[in-house]
Parts: sequence; structure tokens; C-alpha cells
Amino acid sequence: MSVRILARNLLPKEAAELLGPVFLAEAVTEAKFARQVLLDPNYRTEGSIVALDSGGEPVGFCLAIARQVALENAPSDADRGYITLFAVRPSNRQQGTGSKLLEGAEDYLRGSGRTISMISPYAPGYFFPGVDVSQHAVGLDFLLRRGYEVTVRPLSMQTSLWALRVPEWVIEREKEHASAGIRYETFSPEITLPLLRFAQTEFSGDWVRVVRETGTRILHGDRADRLIAAVEGGGSETRVIGFSHWEGERFGPIGVAEGQRGKGIGQVLMYRTLRAQHSAGLRAAWFLWTDDRTAERIYNEAGFREIRRFAILRKKLS
Ligand SMILES: CC(C)(COP(=O)(O)OP(=O)(O)OC[C@H]1O[C@@H](n2cnc3c(N)ncnc32)[C@H](O)[C@@H]1OP(=O)(O)O)[C@@H](O)C(=O)NCCC(=O)NCCS
Repeated sequence: MSVRILARNLLPKEAAELLGPVFLAEAVTEAKFARQVLLDPNYRTEGSIVALDSGGEPVGFCLAIARQVALENAPSDADRGYITLFAVRPSNRQQGTGSKLLEGAEDYLRGSGRTISMISPYAPGYFFPGVDVSQHAVGLDFLLRRGYEVTVRPLSMQTSLWALRVPEWVIEREKEHASAGIRYETFSPEITLPLLRFAQTEFSGDWVRVVRETGTRILHGDRADRLIAAVEGGGSETRVIGFSHWEGERFGPIGVAEGQRGKGIGQVLMYRTLRAQHSAGLRAAWFLWTDDRTAERIYNEAGFREIRRFAILRKKLS
């Protein structure tokens, strides 16, 4: 069957039909596709490469993103582009369609002046950090054979909230923090600027966006404990030294100022966040991206277990 490859918008309905069954864990619905792809200021039709069968129906899709709009104060990534979605309908595989889609996506990135193609750590619109090594082992081999190399292998973890128990030592640490003048606060108008300043200086980029967007949502009526901050000082001297965030069952990001690490602030923030999720009626908490060292140091004790493993890929575009 002849397949045509062209740059064309994929309709949300087409996206859900084509991508939903391939990326089951991501649950690509029409709304999610519109929110994460079509509303992204970096989305361009030219990077949306579609394979159409002879009846005009989409049977494959590859989405390439070359950032046009800076992400807050993140370092420039003008040298690279990202492939964030890539799939061919199972019945149409092994006919050269995937290869042509990938070429089309890489051509778009080259034409946008990018010299590196990454799969798929694009903030803020990534569906997965990289290729899921067990669910998409065939796709991973396909990409490795086409010049992609694995850079890192982050893992996704999940914990049940049913039996959440805060360890004694974490409770003790929190008391010690209180005597040392460190308190824990849910988001309020007063900590808006200290929190933004913290995110900008300590983490930058996507974390600043998280603070801005979640702060706005909280001020529109979301639960204030969706952002929890570790705070020192008061009035105009208020300083945020750590924060954590959740949205539905998704936990994180969570981070402590570099100079304040090793005191248990991260653990207190983590348990406070898990408790907030639990009290919102959630049964589980998960996140998409950490490394093995952090998993061992922090997450294992809270009952988090590996549920997925990803390969982040990189290719130099010649
Ligand atoms: C990865 C994926 C997009 C590849 O799509 P595809 O259409 O099967 O790709 P192609 O047909 O171009 O290539 C697949 C293999 O079939 C071979 N092939 C191509 N035309 C062929 C033909 N006419 N007859 C037999 N084999 C053929 C290719 O040589 C290739 O083998 P190779 O990798 O050893 O070179 C597809 O497997 C997929 O959708 N997987 C699930 C999602 C996924 O993993 N996405 C990537 C990570 S996000």
C-alpha cells in the first residue's frame, strides 16, 4: 500500500486514534494532545510529519520540536531539537514508513538550524523522558540503528499512599528545623516572589514555569498544598530554601537549595507532599524521572519502586 509522507497538522481525534493504542501509559487523549502539543508555543506544522495511507488516513506520525520561545531563564538549547512522539500503526510497520517519518522530522530540525536531535527530554511538553526500554524495545533498536546513542537511563517510580507512614527520624528532623528557624508553608501570595527567586537561582527553566503555573492555579482555587516551601526569615527577608510540587498522582519536582542539602529538608518536603496527595484522596504517587543514585538515597525508603526505565537518546545531525 502506498503511503504519503508530508508535514501536516494531526487532528486531535486522529492523534488519539493513532497514538493512544501505542503509548498506553501516556493515555494520549484528544485533550492531552491539544494541551501538550497544539497549545505549545514551539509547535510548528512543519515539524509535524504525518504518514497517510491511500485513503488519506494517518498511519504514522513523528513530531519534531525546535524551540522558538525561551523557557523562562533556562540555558539556551538553540543547538538541539527534540522528537517527542514517534509511532507507526502496528499493521503498517516494516514497510519503510518509520524511516521516512524520522528523516522528515530530522530534516525539519536541520532546516531550523539544529545540529543535535534528542529523544525526548523536551521541557515542558515531553510525554516521556526517552524511549521506554521494555515497552518500546523494537523502537529503541530502530533508533539505535539510525545513529542515536543512549545518553542516560532515568527511571520512573511509584509508591502506594495507602500505608504511608512518616519515619520517626523525619518527624525529629522537622522539629530540629523548627528550632533552627526553618518552617514549611503551603503556597500563599506572600511567598510568591521568594519562591520564584528560589526556582530561578537554584533550578531555572522548567521549575520556574511550574511555580508560575501552579501558583496561578492555586490563586484560582486549587489546593494551596500543591506547592510546599521550606522557608527561612520573615517579611522582606523571607527566603525559600526548598520546594516541592504535585499534580494529581504526579509527584514533583522537588528540590532543596544547594547549600541546604543533607539536613533532611528534602525528606520533610517529600513526606508533606505525599501526605497532601493522600489527603486529596489519591491512592498512589508517581514521577517520571530520576536517576538510580537519588532512587537509592531518597525514594526507596518512602516505598517508591521502579515502574519504567527510559533511554534518552541523542544523535548528531550531519
Ligand atoms: C519505531 C517505529 C516507529 C518504526 O516504524 P516502521 O514503520 O516499522 O519502520 P520501518 O519500516 O522504516 O523500519 C523497521 C524495519 O523494517 C525494515 N523494513 C523496511 N521496509 C521493509 C519492507 N518493505 N519489508 C521488510 N522490512 C522492511 C527496516 O529496514 C527496519 O529494519 P532495521 O531497523 O533493521 O533497518 C515502530 O516500530 C513503532 O511505532 N513502534 C512503537 C513506538 C515506538 O517505539 N516509538 C519510538 C520511541 S518513542
